[in-house]
Amino acid sequence: MPTHRLLILILSSLGLSSVALTGCGPIATVEGLVCIDAEEDATSCPAAEDVDLEEAFVYMSCDQEKISSISGEGTVQNISQLGDDMGCCYDAELIETTPGSDCDVGRPFREADAAVLAEVVQRGDWGGCDPGPVIDPARAAAWARSGAAEHASIAAFSKLALELLAHGAPAPLVRAVHAAGLDEIDHAERCFALAGRFGGVAVGPGPLPITQPIFASRPLADIAADAVREGCVGETTGAVLARAAADAAADPQVREALAAIAADEERHAALSWQVVAWAVRASSTREDAAVVREAVRAAFAAPVAAVDVTELAVRAQVEPALLRAAARTSLTDVVRPAARALMAA
Ligand SMILES: [Fe+2]
Ligand SMILES: [Fe+2]
Repeated sequence: MPTHRLLILILSSLGLSSVALTGCGPIATVEGLVCIDAEEDATSCPAAEDVDLEEAFVYMSCDQEKISSISGEGTVQNISQLGDDMGCCYDAELIETTPGSDCDVGRPFREADAAVLAEVVQRGDWGGCDPGPVIDPARAAAWARSGAAEHASIAAFSKLALELLAHGAPAPLVRAVHAAGLDEIDHAERCFALAGRFGGVAVGPGPLPITQPIFASRPLADIAADAVREGCVGETTGAVLARAAADAAADPQVREALAAIAADEERHAALSWQVVAWAVRASSTREDAAVVREAVRAAFAAPVAAVDVTELAVRAQVEPALLRAAARTSLTDVVRPAARALMAA
């Protein structure tokens, strides 16, 4: 699904299909975009050679990156999801300092802010295959790790379903969240099947090490803020990345798996936006209306968490730069305009 169609899916699922899809901001270059803060009413930018790189930052970074150089005309643009902050931005050459940095695409299951993942073990009942010869151990390991992440997403949706029930969510939302959890079982099986194929041994998840009680009575503001971070940003970007990787992958089984995952993740992304929209609406008659709305606004305005494209590039055997460009496009062309439409509604 092209990014403009994903945006339309999100907006129409929010009943906002008539919102003008303008003002999405520029699409960053593949190499990267570096910005400095600018005055709210700035109309021009300093020349690239006059910019102090110490004050510059990588805009919508997909990995931990260092600025090598910047070039071209600086342009004035919004640099937050909600367009509150202005900056001057330049095309840039970036150096990856820690490829494979610790960050998430999709919906993680967390305890005390740490992602919880099962260990990968030998077993054949999670998409297991008839193991053939070892083809590519690194690729097998990358698929196994993604299988563990998909497996954890099942728990994330189970938890979300309980939380929504505890706040009186409507049936369609609860049903969609359960359906998304079932999708994640399929994703995990597909990933473990590919791990088995490339690694020559059937693998699957061990026990998910859940150590803390799940509190279904968390404040709605916290649930909404998590849905922004993990869903509206994480799953939307995950959907765009999976689609880009599916389109570029050469291996037919990999293409098929990633295309199926992308189609589901696009729905999950739209679902997250619906959850946030419901939370904002549901709270409007309650005392905590302003708290929920502010939590959502703050979550959208927060810096976007880094997205690690390294493993997906290994899994699909595609260029990381292609995926980094897709992640940036997701943020500029889908997340930001959808966030503005949601908050303006
Ligand atoms: Fe998934
Ligand atoms: Fe998902």
